[in-house]
Amino acid sequence: MTVPPLIVAPSILAADFARLAEEVRAVEGAADWLHVDVMDNHFVPNLTIGLPVVQSLRAATELPFDVHLMITDPHRWAPGYADAGAYNVTFHAEACDNPVALAKDLRAAGAKAGLAIDRDTPIEPYLELLPSFDTLLIMTIKAGFGGQRFVPELLDKVRAARRHVDTGHLELRIEVDGGIAADTIEQAAAAGADAFVAGTAVYGADDPAEAVRRLRGLAERAVSGV
Ligand code: DX5
Ligand code: ZN
Repeated sequence: MTVPPLIVAPSILAADFARLAEEVRAVEGAADWLHVDVMDNHFVPNLTIGLPVVQSLRAATELPFDVHLMITDPHRWAPGYADAGAYNVTFHAEACDNPVALAKDLRAAGAKAGLAIDRDTPIEPYLELLPSFDTLLIMTIKAGFGGQRFVPELLDKVRAARRHVDTGHLELRIEVDGGIAADTIEQAAAAGADAFVAGTAVYGADDPAEAVRRLRGLAERAVSGV
């Protein structure tokens, strides 16, 4: 399998939940990962979907699942998503007192391990943990709801992470999530992100697959400087 240089991950949070399988298939062939936002009404005020939906969806598409757990007590639930066939399982640093141990468990369960950093959390204390992770998800909004406005100042964390990853030659995706659209993806790519979650910008478009391709083109151009 060749590794794509940039990942575009549509978030089904912005899809029509009554037609989920259809909405997922609409981005097959264009998207790299499918971003699945799990919210528990505790870690964030919102409530979305859980394991049974992920299990059912797993049978409906070949797309790798990028599960974003916005939940308390991730150690209790995260390995279940790996067992359900998620490609990457990301949990929040703010919700976990031993992130390295959970990353190890996720990898042992056959998934990539992701660490998410919410809007108000500094990145510095977590940089030294990154060798235990495959993905670092930096929120570019406050986690909890789709359709929020991108906060450009949060890209400073992406820049700090990119410097750290490159200096340490770490194998780690730096993913951004929140408000990623045609007018923001280039700055996120230029800051050093190489995986891009987009909900509204994909599922709010008339042609979601075309929206994914357009976002990828913009990010690629920002990185190549053409
Ligand atoms: C919000 C979620 C995001 C959300 C992004 O907490 O983590 O993945 O779906 O939605 P947009 O792209 O609309 O900001
Ligand atoms: Zn998300």
